[in-house]
Amino acid sequence: MATQTLLKGETTARRTTVFMKVLMASTGALFVFYVLMHMYGNLKIFAGAKAFDEYAEHLREMLVPILPYSGFLWLFRVLLVVALLVHAYAAFTLWSRANSARPQRYAVKSAAKGAARSKMMRWGGITLLTWLIFHLVQFTIAKVNFNGAFSAEALKIDGHASTGMLVVASFKLWWVVLIYLIALVALGMHLFHGVWSGAQTLGWTNSARSRKLAHTVAHLVAAVVVIGFAVPPLAILAGLVTGK
Ligand code: HEM
Repeated sequence: MATQTLLKGETTARRTTVFMKVLMASTGALFVFYVLMHMYGNLKIFAGAKAFDEYAEHLREMLVPILPYSGFLWLFRVLLVVALLVHAYAAFTLWSRANSARPQRYAVKSAAKGAARSKMMRWGGITLLTWLIFHLVQFTIAKVNFNGAFSAEALKIDGHASTGMLVVASFKLWWVVLIYLIALVALGMHLFHGVWSGAQTLGWTNSARSRKLAHTVAHLVAAVVVIGFAVPPLAILAGLVTGK
């Protein structure tokens, strides 16, 4: 009877672990999609601050008049926040489960490797979250200009405050670029391991060939995102993008 209860408990625990991993993989896939779209949008800065603003404006006009102005954007924001909460909750649950698991059940070497990886994902995730709060305050919530060389007037286009100009002014400061580059390294590592573990969860790494493919895709996604996001700030710092 006691053995049966134990086995039942173990099966439920394993099911919960798989469910949490599926939750992480599906919300992670949504983030990969969002990040790729955002990265593409940011490249509009090469067409000037006005083109950048127009792109942001189009996002607000999406599905109008089916939805009100900014309606789609708000629905997507709510979806992202819910996905972020689910992603963090599943990560926390898996983390506390892994901590309470008996380490002698695994080979010492692979357990140490796995522990180092999950530690990196955890701290990388926390770093990213901290940076994301800074990022949202800087460009969305408060639109903070750290660059004293640009007056409020200089950040306007056709009499309106321009987010594109704020981006240009911000990345003329080396320390802002540095903060973003550090965040991008954390993002790249998080994406690489995230895509790889997601592929494992979904059973896409069962043969040597599919493992190799998943590894390549994980590297590719991380590289495209890091390079794609890093290019605009670096180009602005180098004086290649003037904005107006
Ligand atoms: C060099 C890198 C990046 C730049 C220059 C950048 C720039 C911007 C700008 C200008 C906005 C405000 C858009 C607007 O109000 O029209 C924004 C919003 C946002 N960014 Fe980024 N971003 C970068 C990287 C990232 C990354 C890596 C993430 C996610 C991990 C991210 C997530 C967001 C989110 C969630 C918003 C809020 C969008 C909304 O208004 O709902 N950004 N970003």
